[in-house]
Amino acid sequence: MELKSRITEQLAIDYPIIEGGMAHIGDGRLAAAVTNAGGLGQVAASGFSPRRFREQIDIAAQAANGSLGVNVPIGTSFNYQAYFEIIREKKDVLSAVSLSSGDPRGHTQMLKELGLTVMVVVASVRQAVVAEEAGADIIICEGFEAGGRNSPMELTLFTLIPSISKHVSLPVIAAGGISNGKAMLGAFALGAEGVQVGTRFIATEECAAHETYKRSLVEAKDEQSTVIERSIGSVNRVLMSPYVQEVQKREEKRLPFYDLFTYINGQRNRIAAIQGDMENGWVHAGQGIGAIGSITSVQNVIDEYIQDMKQAAKQLDDNTALLMKT
Ligand SMILES: Cc1cc2nc3c(=O)[nH]c(=O)nc-3n(C[C@H](O)[C@H](O)[C@H](O)COP(=O)(O)O)c2cc1C
Repeated sequence: MELKSRITEQLAIDYPIIEGGMAHIGDGRLAAAVTNAGGLGQVAASGFSPRRFREQIDIAAQAANGSLGVNVPIGTSFNYQAYFEIIREKKDVLSAVSLSSGDPRGHTQMLKELGLTVMVVVASVRQAVVAEEAGADIIICEGFEAGGRNSPMELTLFTLIPSISKHVSLPVIAAGGISNGKAMLGAFALGAEGVQVGTRFIATEECAAHETYKRSLVEAKDEQSTVIERSIGSVNRVLMSPYVQEVQKREEKRLPFYDLFTYINGQRNRIAAIQGDMENGWVHAGQGIGAIGSITSVQNVIDEYIQDMKQAAKQLDDNTALLMKT
């Protein structure tokens, strides 16, 4: 079954499913697997030194038969210039770049001149309009459901997709809690033309995450996705654990940033995600965790999204026919 939209056309992919940038675990092997299964794989800059970022792009490019992307957070706390230099160097093996966590003005034109499709991650209508005016090609609209660092505005996809697609003419990709084909169909119904997936791709054979992390996602119930860092004005969506509960208790005591930082820094994420040390660190997990049933190959995950979406579309047709019957 072919799934065609402006997203599949612009990115030259078979299915409108893209891998979200994932700090520490969004490496070249996972990106190549997503691309080879018909989606768009993306190598993450966050969690990788510039040298490792370059290596991972090479690994992805060697293994992938199709379009590849990279993700670069452009917030003030990240030295994105070093990564932009590598993107310039590797532009011939890349098709797209996604910019997240910051203002895209000042970056989009330079990246477009390299021949890349520029996608901008947004979390409100205002940000989407700014991204369109800045010359972005695709809007990625990320809801509060998403694993990882989210906007403090905490808007959900259910409201974001229809309002953003009403205010911009660019194609919209929906991100956050989309762990199966039924949710993907829902996103399309609301106006999206593609989906960005993070958490579901972690529980795959090709992901570098530790087995403990993958298994905990399969075993997790929907209630176990939670938020840390609200006390310092951020939203970081993670998997609930005794370690995370401790962090939340410290936040209730309103610890200042420098004290809290010991518990929430990227190294604490790395040791849990890559080494499986959940007692001393935390991992990201979106609200779609309750729908993850197995650790399997990326190919199987994408096939399941498509099958599941087809079934859901049929069910929707039947339900609609019943509803509309007079
Ligand atoms: C482990 C993990 C790490 C993430 N790191 C980043 C990142 O470095 N940059 C970024 O733009 N988004 C990041 N995100 C967000 C994803 O790109 C994506 O938008 C999100 O995972 C989609 O929601 P889902 O996890 O519910 O599928 C991360 C998400 C996860 C789960």
